[in-house]
Amino acid sequence: MNHQTDNSWEKKDMANVFHGFTDLGTLNSNGPVVLTHGEGIHVFDVHGKRYMDANSGLWNNVAGFNHQGLINAICDQARKFPGYHSFFGRIADTTVALSEKLVAISPFEEGKVFYTNSGSEANDTMVKMLWMLHRRNGQPQRRKIISRVNAYHGVTVATASMTGKAYNEEFGLPLPGFLHADCPHFWRYGKKGESEKAFSQRMARNLEEMIIKEGPDTIAGMWAEPVMGAGGVIVPSEGYFEAIRPILRKYGIPLIADEVICGFGRTGAMWGSVKYNMEPDAIIASKCITAGYFPMGAIILGKDLSDELTRVSETAEEFPHGFTAGGNPLGSAVALKALDVLEEDGLLENVNRVSPRFLERLQRLGAHKYAGEVRGVGLMGAVELVADKTTKQALPGDLQVSERIANKALEKGLICRPLGAAIVLGPPFIITEAQIDEMFDILEETMTDVFADVGL
Ligand SMILES: Cc1ncc(COP(=O)(O)O)c(C=O)c1O
Repeated sequence: MNHQTDNSWEKKDMANVFHGFTDLGTLNSNGPVVLTHGEGIHVFDVHGKRYMDANSGLWNNVAGFNHQGLINAICDQARKFPGYHSFFGRIADTTVALSEKLVAISPFEEGKVFYTNSGSEANDTMVKMLWMLHRRNGQPQRRKIISRVNAYHGVTVATASMTGKAYNEEFGLPLPGFLHADCPHFWRYGKKGESEKAFSQRMARNLEEMIIKEGPDTIAGMWAEPVMGAGGVIVPSEGYFEAIRPILRKYGIPLIADEVICGFGRTGAMWGSVKYNMEPDAIIASKCITAGYFPMGAIILGKDLSDELTRVSETAEEFPHGFTAGGNPLGSAVALKALDVLEEDGLLENVNRVSPRFLERLQRLGAHKYAGEVRGVGLMGAVELVADKTTKQALPGDLQVSERIANKALEKGLICRPLGAAIVLGPPFIITEAQIDEMFDILEETMTDVFADVGL
């Protein structure tokens, strides 16, 4: 539906907003969706149309769009102490309380938390932490960062360089010294006759070859998402992290778990890095940390990194880095409440209660003629569309099948996300089994319509 009458919200948007990560062809023909509010897992546009958001906003609005406990937590904190920074050793009490809580629920026995406003800033900060650490430790040449093909770590200059997506060529990125190891996607990259475990071993051998070729003492750290989210929900191949971990240890390379999507329950576990035996040296968190109610990113440093970074910062007088709004008490208050809701109010429990239904319906989609692979864990899943299931040959790009499916689903009141040739789902953690059925019913019907429309 196109509501672009004069003076409409859509017209005002088109005239005044510069959208990122938006297909401008679709925007120009269909117009934007301007929203006013939400209820549970639904959002409403300015015309009163209701959409089920199968992506929790951007993976983050996991408690729904009008959780009264979260709203009250922000309002109460706003009345008490609405804003302060954490420079010069000053900080809001609520932010100290959140830090204590984050360390307590982390896989680390001890550690420290550093705050940012986003996941990108948290990853970017971690790069600077490692660069400073190695420099102060007499290894200034240890600057190269390893991430992986298809990874998503953010949009700042450094984190876009870590992101393993071709679109960053638009910016002349990656910068030199940002390396991309293999993506552990067995279905896509496994060789004929190769077992999944053997594939993981090959991934690990290739990583070690890369490290040796580059020079082990030039590598600052390696980043990995437990399950690659924006890469299209790539669940790591069996034994992958167990295979790469000893190699990183052998060469003294810290492993950073980017838990911006997986952290706080998306995979059914509090931490994806624990579920997949990553044993990281630090965790990057954002998104669900505030259930999407306030911008916040956090680095949770494990004890070793935390001790070392404190030591070198003392030598340098300080860690010369920080964000004005990092550790803002409004965000801290809502994050504390979000953790309560997750643990005590049974949100994480609900993920595990409804996940079998979610994964079962996802599997059923796999029977579709053009579903090459369905994959998922917890409440994250994807269906990858192909022209031929056996050869895995891609559908003709100009058909834009995944974009068409997302657009058609939107008309039917379902928000889902096209990512390359895949459709990605990551519903809020409050979703019920009945709503999961409704979500997949709409998606199945939409896929049938779209494949008929494009003549397949
Ligand atoms: C794994 C991962 N890391 C980092 C980011 C960047 O976070 P932000 O958009 O808050 O900068 C994202 C965002 O989707 C992400 O999925």
